[in-house]
Amino acid sequence: MRFAPLVERIAGKGADAWITHYEACAARERGEDVILLSVGDPDLDTPAPVLERAIERLRAGDTHYTPSLGRTPLREAIAADHSRRYGHTVGLDNVIVLSGAQNALFVTSLCVAGPGDEVIALDPMYATYPATVEVSGARLVRSGSTAARGFRVDLDALARSITPRTRALMFASPNNPSGVILNEEELAVIAELARRHDFWIVADQVYAGLAPGGRVPSLAKALPDQVVTICSLSKSLSMPGWRVGWLVGPQPMVAHAEHLAMCMLFGLPGFIQDAAVTALSIAPQAEQNVRDYCARRRDLMHAGLAGIPGLRCHLPDAGMFILADVSATGLTGEQFMRALYAAEKVSVLDGGVFGRETAGVVRICFATEEHAIKDACERIRRFVKAHGAGS
Ligand SMILES: Cc1ncc(COP(=O)(O)O)c(C=O)c1O
Repeated sequence: MRFAPLVERIAGKGADAWITHYEACAARERGEDVILLSVGDPDLDTPAPVLERAIERLRAGDTHYTPSLGRTPLREAIAADHSRRYGHTVGLDNVIVLSGAQNALFVTSLCVAGPGDEVIALDPMYATYPATVEVSGARLVRSGSTAARGFRVDLDALARSITPRTRALMFASPNNPSGVILNEEELAVIAELARRHDFWIVADQVYAGLAPGGRVPSLAKALPDQVVTICSLSKSLSMPGWRVGWLVGPQPMVAHAEHLAMCMLFGLPGFIQDAAVTALSIAPQAEQNVRDYCARRRDLMHAGLAGIPGLRCHLPDAGMFILADVSATGLTGEQFMRALYAAEKVSVLDGGVFGRETAGVVRICFATEEHAIKDACERIRRFVKAHGAGS
């Protein structure tokens, strides 16, 4: 039987990248001694009041269909959160609730570009971006930034990658995997380019709550008709499994997203939406807790990896990951990932899945138990030594 051309566009390297991770998950299920540092899913529980609210609503029978845009109290809470965080006042018409930031990225991608169009994404980029962009039929254009410049955006390269076909620029700030936050100066140049060439800015802010003070610079206020801001409760509220995300954008964008949601999602469960309202009401304190948790573990991981010959670490502005440059070991990121797992049962992620410039790095998540971090650093040290790196 034949499949549609889209199946080719969504089966990229992003899908293969998780092979070691899934192997490690299966081994952990079997009770084997593995350390999983390949995904950003901290061992933090959902805040208790959120859980209580969901259970209460479930018991009250809140298990029916809900509006495709999301319930009004949740959209109001998201609008208030967005206004507070970015100083950009928005209303209900600017908000749609979707199933995680990933779903919001997918919806935005389909609404802003199509066959013959180009979407630029800042490289390195989150591993799902290529398929998320190309599912629409648009072509992904990578705009690179190098390890040598700390993975900060190369604005000249970005300007050169714009063509008459450019429909959107997509980026995450803080970035995954690099943890880089776009600063005001960089965003001012990006805004100027977006104005001049009339393209969308798709700003993935899932890690914004983990940035200092829970805020990152944004163009939402400066370019209200051109910016789509995407966020979720996954990272900053430790609620990835709840699949609550959203987009905030101009009203026509939200209207089109609603049509797509009608034929694709048809509303998030009501008990989850009500629990999400509770989550947003406690967001400032909950985010502070996650930030403290991450800061302590980042320092622990950094100290543990420091001095391992052959490894050079890039510390994030925010987020849950350290990038370790392993090129001095003579291995690519992918080879290092596979060999480390085979030898020491530590699962990290090949940086090559995030872009060309990260082919020689691995991404290591530090949002895990402290004893696991110490143990993992020892195993990595042993692996690098046995591999003869730095000698
Ligand atoms: C940059 C980035 N965007 C989006 C997502 C997806 O987030 P969500 O769980 O809200 O779908 C992730 C998850 O790791 C991410 O790192």
